[in-house]
Amino acid sequence: MTMMPEIKGAKTQRHGGLPVSLPAWAYASDELIDIEYENLILPSWQFVCHISEVANAGDYATLDMKKDSILVMRGKDMALRAFMNVCRHRAAKLLTGTGNCKARITCPYHGWSYDLSGELKGVPAEKTFPGVEKDRLGLKEIEIEIFAGMVFTRIVPGGPTLRESFGDMADIVADYRLEEMVPGGEAWIDSWDCNWKIAVDNNLENYHIPIGHPGLNRMLDSDLTGIINRHGVAYSKSVLKGTPSANRAERMYQHLAKGAFTHLPDAARRTWTFFSLAPNIGLDIYPDSFDIFQILPQSGTSCVMRYPIYVRPGASREEKAMQYLNARINRQVGLEDRELCERVQNGMGSHGYEPGPLSNYEHAVLDFHNRIRAACPVVADAKAPVSGTLRQCNDALRSGARSAA
Ligand code: FES
Ligand SMILES: [Fe+2]
Repeated sequence: MTMMPEIKGAKTQRHGGLPVSLPAWAYASDELIDIEYENLILPSWQFVCHISEVANAGDYATLDMKKDSILVMRGKDMALRAFMNVCRHRAAKLLTGTGNCKARITCPYHGWSYDLSGELKGVPAEKTFPGVEKDRLGLKEIEIEIFAGMVFTRIVPGGPTLRESFGDMADIVADYRLEEMVPGGEAWIDSWDCNWKIAVDNNLENYHIPIGHPGLNRMLDSDLTGIINRHGVAYSKSVLKGTPSANRAERMYQHLAKGAFTHLPDAARRTWTFFSLAPNIGLDIYPDSFDIFQILPQSGTSCVMRYPIYVRPGASREEKAMQYLNARINRQVGLEDRELCERVQNGMGSHGYEPGPLSNYEHAVLDFHNRIRAACPVVADAKAPVSGTLRQCNDALRSGARSAA
């Protein structure tokens, strides 16, 4: 089933009767990235960590994005809170990576210290700040939601919860008991030489699997269409083929899956399930593990990939072998996707390219483009605005003072 929800304020461009992609300039503009970051990334749920990484009082995890760093902290009262990871004195970043704070979060610059619930407690040489209002200088708290064991935060509040966003699809996620998983090692963080939207487009369609991912095609029957709901949560699945793959690692994975993870429903043991959450997050669930694929805008022509993997603890030898084989198979898939995305980035610069039509298989890509069109109406212009004027053009379109060229 395909469902193409309408997005308010989005004007889709067309080629003949078919919808087309965004204009090429929108995939290389540093000025547009700032607007996309403000209008799409800040008001959306962003993954920080799994609950197993912040289980004890004082445990923390951080997420670094283009301009902002976020801190998730387990308080002494065992509540999990999310803060902007920036000192209220003169902006130093407070904590990095993951770890445990015994009692205070102490700024590495002048030593201001905050308790685990974010209140400012200590100011060295406090008398040199006559009348300082410490109770108004606590860390800025932001929205947090735990969904199936995954900790998400949102800087600009409002909009649906994650539970609401997933709707009925939350039941599919629940089958996998992701809250029981643990990190499968350090998260991969990588930089790709492509605009973040090229990587998102790629993550939103399976049309490229038969050609772009020969390995996946050998071992899985992939649903090329999938579904998407009105909140931009997309879902598709690939089922392990009965015919053994010609590749040894893939064949072993297919074979081991038959007897492993028997606590899962039968269908889940044979299925790779792919979700994506607008605008920039993939959630890939396997019988043996799951991963998050978080695509963070960086510059007009580069983005940062954050790719943590979580595995089922207490796995048998065969199940551990599946986790190992899965990581190996998906490492190859990641290399293929990167190469394809960087190829597309190069093509976007070609004078011979104009936006082409989108297939019904690419309906989630169209949904994403319409979200970009609604949040940044300037992308309706076939040519990039004159350098330095993009924000002004976009503001004029948003306020209705100008209509698209
Ligand atoms: S910037 Fe943090 S104490 Fe000065
Ligand atoms: Fe791919």
